[in-house]
Amino acid sequence: MNLTADPATAAPSRTAPALVVEGLTKRFGTRTAFENVSFSVNHGEVFGFLGPNGAGKTTTVRTLGTLIAPTSGHATVAGLPLIPQNGVEIRRRIAIMPEAPGLYLRLSVAENLSYFAGLYELTDGPARIERALRAVNLLDRADELCRSLSKGLRQRVGLARALLSDPTVLFLDEPTSGLDPVAAGTVHDLIDALRNRGVTIFLTTHRLAEAERLCDRVAIMNTTLRLVGTPDELREQLFSKRLEIRTREPLADPERVLAGLAGVESWHRADDGAYVLAVADPGLVAPDAARALVAAGADVLSLSPSQYSLEDVYLRLIDTDVEAQNR
Ligand SMILES: Nc1ncnc2c1ncn2[C@@H]1O[C@H](COP(=O)(O)OP(=O)(O)OP(=O)(O)O)[C@@H](O)[C@H]1O
Ligand SMILES: [Mg+2]
Repeated sequence: MNLTADPATAAPSRTAPALVVEGLTKRFGTRTAFENVSFSVNHGEVFGFLGPNGAGKTTTVRTLGTLIAPTSGHATVAGLPLIPQNGVEIRRRIAIMPEAPGLYLRLSVAENLSYFAGLYELTDGPARIERALRAVNLLDRADELCRSLSKGLRQRVGLARALLSDPTVLFLDEPTSGLDPVAAGTVHDLIDALRNRGVTIFLTTHRLAEAERLCDRVAIMNTTLRLVGTPDELREQLFSKRLEIRTREPLADPERVLAGLAGVESWHRADDGAYVLAVADPGLVAPDAARALVAAGADVLSLSPSQYSLEDVYLRLIDTDVEAQNR
């Protein structure tokens, strides 16, 4: 989609990051919503922002979206320093889809979008509305009252609304919250399509599989930023690598077979009977392990590197936080 910006909103530089956040803090009175948060997001990246309830995700979105001012720290949003004088220009370059889409239920889909197009002072409203509706596959529902739409469809109207202004940076605050797997899948496809068009997406979510599927990098946050990286990088930082071996019968002398292998740091037998080897490089150890097992007369059922999910990473980090809080 290329909802061309008018000259006053000329596209920001593509070389600088889409978002730069440095030591950003937001307090409400004595309550700290987030503290000393620093990260950057590249153009065209889908950046996931994960954290438990109350972690400060929505407040971060509202701060970067110029809806509230930070208490301290610096940020650049869509190429512009986050300062009050730049509020209007930043808002021209970004869009926020909040947790609740905020539609007028007694107006039709098209009337809602037309109202918001007017609010954004878009000159070519009808054409933009049509493109936004097409992007979310809702052209045929344009005349329906929003009241009569299901939650998933309302969410898509909310996304169409966010697309009206052709944002370079799109903030999506839990866009699939409360949606069934099929409706959530539709939103995922839309996010993929936006990424393919070069839109930078800042996505908060509680669905870790969603973050794993969609995000180039994720940040895990709990008032302070805990980790940032690709899901693979986070797995590597938090978990040692493992090779998991399953045999038809238990090994007669596992210590002799497994501990003698080059590259094996330790091994243990899991509750489900698998032999779990801590290794530096599963790809190097696996062929030797297969040979040693066969030589020992074992029937090998499987031999594979353990896969940790983003959920494992998240839970380990957040559990550590809870433990720290309880100390
Ligand atoms: N306007 C406000 N006034 C006072 N405290 C606020 C305000 N907005 C947010 N907070 C507090 O800031 C903290 C972070 O809230 P925030 O809504 O950013 O969390 P979140 O990560 O989006 O959580 P959730 O996953 O539940 O949506 C919470 O303790 C919240 O109560
Ligand atoms: Mg929130």
